[in-house]
Amino acid sequence: MATRETIEAVLAGAVERARACGEGEPATYIPELANAPLDALSAAITLRDGSIVRAGDDEHRFTFQSSAKLVLLAGLLEERGEDEVFRIVGREPSGGGFASLARLETHGPIPANPLINPGAIALASILEGHLEDRLAWIERWAERLYGDALPIQQRVLASERRTGDRNRSIAHFLKASGVIDGDVDEVLEVYFALCSIEGSVVEASRLAAILATGGLAPRSGERVLSQRTASTVVSIMATCGMYDESGAYLCATGLPAKSGVSGVIVAVATGRGGIAVASPRLNKKGGSVRGHLVLREISRELGWHFALP
Ligand code: DON
Repeated sequence: MATRETIEAVLAGAVERARACGEGEPATYIPELANAPLDALSAAITLRDGSIVRAGDDEHRFTFQSSAKLVLLAGLLEERGEDEVFRIVGREPSGGGFASLARLETHGPIPANPLINPGAIALASILEGHLEDRLAWIERWAERLYGDALPIQQRVLASERRTGDRNRSIAHFLKASGVIDGDVDEVLEVYFALCSIEGSVVEASRLAAILATGGLAPRSGERVLSQRTASTVVSIMATCGMYDESGAYLCATGLPAKSGVSGVIVAVATGRGGIAVASPRLNKKGGSVRGHLVLREISRELGWHFALP
């Protein structure tokens, strides 16, 4: 295992080199995301002993977007078990974009996996109780996994709601196909709130660190997730977490990951720690351009590719 000093130097170097890259555009289909500081860049690694290595802009905060789908998946696997979860969503790569309606129609109606929008919307539909109970469930699991009570960013939430017609179409399609039932607007409200959780790379890397240790909280060692839940979530990240660039990304880094359109990527270095990188410029598949660069360099320099001895 590399020393803390080596990890610090590698992360700092990777972040500085990535900063020089000005490629990519922020997401604009959720207008509030386009107001994010375009060149912000931050990264953190929570190591398995709980110590944190940081680089980049300390004050950088952002919404977790699709990376928060991991909270929904992990919490439901814990509480309801695999049989129930995988009755509603599959666990195969979709081969399409994260909000594809075409794939749902041709390969559905069961969403291919829990990490594309249809999969997360379907899972949000099985949370129980009134809207407030479902939102409280999200907050409770977010706090458990991120290690802090994080706010829902209200401007982003309003923006998601106002421009969420594609997600609305997905949800109505799922209801028309019998995959979900109940009030579609309430399901979407839960899903939009999940995407609008706001925090920093420190909290995001904590969730990844829990996954990297088979479900144990960094530092305290307290069990947060069962080993089975952690290994299932990490496996689905590896195959589906970066949508239709999951294969190329995994070959390059060997670090199972989940992206979000705010420009965050959370990645798991099993047995070592959890990584989060955030920078809003995106590639065509919705992944952070600088996030990819940083993760590639960390993997290469520290020898953290999971398929390399
Ligand atoms: O539902 C949406 O489209 C966004 N709130 C989340 C999508 C997302 O983060 C895709 N990941 N790269």
